[in-house]
Amino acid sequence: MAAIPVRWPNGRETKVEVGQDWLEAANAAGVSIPTGCMGGSCGACEIDVNGKTVRACISTVPAAKSGQLCVEFATDPFW
Ligand code: FES
Repeated sequence: MAAIPVRWPNGRETKVEVGQDWLEAANAAGVSIPTGCMGGSCGACEIDVNGKTVRACISTVPAAKSGQLCVEFATDPFW
């Protein structure tokens, strides 16, 4: 599987395997995404990936046409 550079809200950039769980990838980058239900219904884990909101607990790292992904917290921009 391909790895893709991901920019995290903490300013770090890591290579993440496409298809990896977002929560795992974030952990590895030292970013903690808040979670609640872990089942896709509460929205606590929402992040913006290249401007698109996803629920991290039920999503995996997508391939990006731009060749890079930029992650922001959807709920708290000052995290
Ligand atoms: S933890 Fe509830 S939607 Fe992800």
